Amino acid sequence: MNYENLLVDVKNQILYITINRESKLNALNHQTLKDLHFAVTDAQDSDHVKGIILTGAGSKAFVAGADITEFANFNSEQGGNLAREGQTKVFDVIENSAKPVVAAINGFALGGGLELAMACHIRIASESAKVGLPEVSLGLIPGYGGTQRLTQLVGKGRALEIILSGDMIDANEAHRIGLVNQISKPENLLKNAEDMLNRIFRRSPTAVSAAIRAVNSAGRNDINGFEVEINEFSSCFSSTDFKEGVAAFLEKRKPLFSGK
Ligand code: COA
Repeated sequence: MNYENLLVDVKNQILYITINRESKLNALNHQTLKDLHFAVTDAQDSDHVKGIILTGAGSKAFVAGADITEFANFNSEQGGNLAREGQTKVFDVIENSAKPVVAAINGFALGGGLELAMACHIRIASESAKVGLPEVSLGLIPGYGGTQRLTQLVGKGRALEIILSGDMIDANEAHRIGLVNQISKPENLLKNAEDMLNRIFRRSPTAVSAAIRAVNSAGRNDINGFEVEINEFSSCFSSTDFKEGVAAFLEKRKPLFSGK
């Protein structure tokens, strides 16, 4: 499939999605969000893809936010639709991906860009990255899940400081507060993201997907996460991967998971 604003490539079972609007610091316009929806949705059914790396084109930005020019004249209703559609069709789709998604944050991750990184399962940031939610400087608040996901990741106190100040923080600070999982030299960023996925690929894909669903249910008030965990745990027992994992352990060999 061809995308207007994404470069996509599959290598060694990793789908690389590069947001490709470098002259606009990869800002998320309508077309880019549409492309992202299809790329991540398609990957769910692809036998060639076991995990996804999301990054931005160039060395300056991962994504510098939602495209401000597109919503400059919006009214409340249009603003609400923008947030709802983005959340359900892109950000939630990434968070709920059954295959692990790693954000390789290669520069600015601001506003919708940080929200995009936070929807991914794991974040690795280049030493030069700067992240923040500057929406209050535009008279807005984050609308793509940022108030919720940042609070889950770093706690209410730090989330409020970042959102109310609108200030950027550097990669070291983002790492210190648990907003990113790892910091990397810029030249090793993709390699480190690949290594992370390859570690996960050695585990049972069925169990990895079940773990994503269980962890994603934490802190939601519409479902009981403990019940989700019990159900996911229970389902694992009927998987071929479970039988293989246990057999391999008992036979003192490496497991060969089929993902079934
Ligand atoms: N939406 C639309 N266009 C954006 C954008 C965004 N979120 N972020 C950057 N761009 C565009 C700029 O308008 C500029 O386009 P132009 O060359 O046609 O004028 C181009 O990307 C380069 O950005 P520029 O501002 O010139 O780069 P800089 O190095 O001076 O500053 C930033 C970099 C990231 C600090 C600055 O671009 C910025 O503050 N961007 C907006 C961040 C933001 O508020 N995001 C949240 C949106 S809800």
